[in-house]
Amino acid sequence: MKTLVILAHPNIDVSRVNRRWKEELEQYETDITIHEIYQAYPDWNIDVSREQKLLEAYDHIILQFPLYWYSYPPLLKKWFDDVFTYGWAYGSSGNKLRGKKLSLAMSIGDKKENYTPEGSVSFTVDEVIAPFKASIKHVGAIALPYFAVFGASFQATDEEINQSAQDYIRYIRKYQKNAGSISV
Ligand SMILES: Cc1cc2nc3c(=O)[nH]c(=O)nc-3n(C[C@H](O)[C@H](O)[C@H](O)COP(=O)(O)O)c2cc1C
Repeated sequence: MKTLVILAHPNIDVSRVNRRWKEELEQYETDITIHEIYQAYPDWNIDVSREQKLLEAYDHIILQFPLYWYSYPPLLKKWFDDVFTYGWAYGSSGNKLRGKKLSLAMSIGDKKENYTPEGSVSFTVDEVIAPFKASIKHVGAIALPYFAVFGASFQATDEEINQSAQDYIRYIRKYQKNAGSISV
C-alpha cells in the first residue's frame, strides 16, 4: 500500500519538526509520496482536478502540518474546501474517498500534559481534531489514530525530533502493513 502525505507548512525553511519529518519521508519515495501544498500553490490557486486525481491514486492519506490555533494552517483549510467537492467527496454520487484511510501527523507546540481536561489547554488532542474526524466520517473515509510530537515550539530537543521522525516512519509502516484490517 502506498501513502500520500499532504504537507502544509507555511514556512518550511524555518521549521524544525516538519522539515525533519519531510527529510525522513524523502528516503522512502518508492512508497511514500510527499505533496507540499504551500510549494505547489504559492498563489493559493488550487488545481482541484489535479488534487482529486492524486487522492484517488492512494489508499492511505496523511495530512501533515503544525498545529496553529488548535487547527490547520489556512491553506489546508482552503484545500479541504476546494477539493472535497459535492459529487466527488460526498453527495449521492460522491464516493471517491470512501474506505480510504486518513491520518493526521501534527507537530504541536505545547506540552503533552497540557492537552488534558486538567491541563492548561483543557482539551485533549482528540477533542481538538473533532472537526477533522467529523469531515472524514462525512466522506466515508476511515480516520486512523493521529501521530504527533509535542513540545514542538521550544522543549523538543534535536534528538527527540530525530526520534519522532523514525517513529513517524514506523507509524506509516504499521498502517501500510495492516491494510484492510483497521477498526477505529
Ligand atoms: C500561528 C501559530 C499558531 C500556533 N498555535 C498553536 C496552538 O494552538 N497550539 C499549540 O500547541 N501550538 C501552537 N503553535 C506552535 C506550533 O504548533 C509549533 O510552532 C509547530 O508545531 C512547530 O513545528 P515546526 O518546527 O515544523 O514549525 C502555534 C504557532 C504559530 C506560529
